Amino acid sequence: MKHLLSIADLDAAEIRELLSLAAQTHSSTCLQGKTIANLFFENSTRTRLSFEMAAKQGGAQVVNFTAGGSSVAKGETLLDTVKTVDAMGVDAIVLRHGDAGAAEFVSEHVTCSVINAGDGAHAHPTQALLDAWTVLEHRDSLDGLILVIVGDIEHSRVARSNIWLFTKLGAHVRLCGPRTMVTDEFANSVGVEGMVTVHHNLAESLTGADVVMALRIQKERMKGEASRIPSDSEYAATFGLNEETIGFAKEGALVLHPGPMNRGVEISTEVADGPQSCVFQQVKSGVAVRKAVLRWALGG
Ligand code: CP
Repeated sequence: MKHLLSIADLDAAEIRELLSLAAQTHSSTCLQGKTIANLFFENSTRTRLSFEMAAKQGGAQVVNFTAGGSSVAKGETLLDTVKTVDAMGVDAIVLRHGDAGAAEFVSEHVTCSVINAGDGAHAHPTQALLDAWTVLEHRDSLDGLILVIVGDIEHSRVARSNIWLFTKLGAHVRLCGPRTMVTDEFANSVGVEGMVTVHHNLAESLTGADVVMALRIQKERMKGEASRIPSDSEYAATFGLNEETIGFAKEGALVLHPGPMNRGVEISTEVADGPQSCVFQQVKSGVAVRKAVLRWALGG
């Protein structure tokens, strides 16, 4: 029984082991006898459904919880909620929560495995694994690749997890966005030293890129703050991926987006649905990767 809380906790060999597990065919009984609880305190489409599909494909029982409609509305705390679910005898809790550190906190108070399905702006380890797995379906290795992540970097758990994963496996990561969304201080605090650079000019950052990942502006994490950009349209004009700007990357560069996409803001429809886009392949990879993670965590 293991927890998966953050890519930062894993070494390169453990990341490779998880990616290699995702490449294997898993039987329809590999999770038989296990019960997985999906606890989602924040909205999700891809992560929640793919964890449920992965668990069911492996023969596990699945119970689903969303904060709306639960006893959280009556004042029950996160701790009492997870201890209640743990007491029912589940084997794993898959947790999404709006607070950074929630998954680690829960892991310290339950007897079952805890898989972080996204905690605030901190980490989204299975997203990074499925992103890497998607790239590896097109490339032999991540070693030496240039990954450019464009967007609202400092609010992004996807960016943090991918920076750790890609740099641990030898890729160079360029972070691009407005100065209000990415700084040198941030880049110095995440990933393998010397492998992360910051850019505020999209064309410059994309030059020579093998993989380009666009991120959504996470307005839900900016409530009560002054706006960090003048407008969505100005952002799109300056940092949006479109048919013209993607031309600065290497020919055939892969385009990723973790979803949900705001078409016409960080990515145009032409690029999102274009020949270089891996967006829906990422979604497909999510099921295989999450099945592998459940097997890894539960010792199947
Ligand atoms: N990428 C991602 O985590 O999407 P969801 O919020 O839909 O799960």
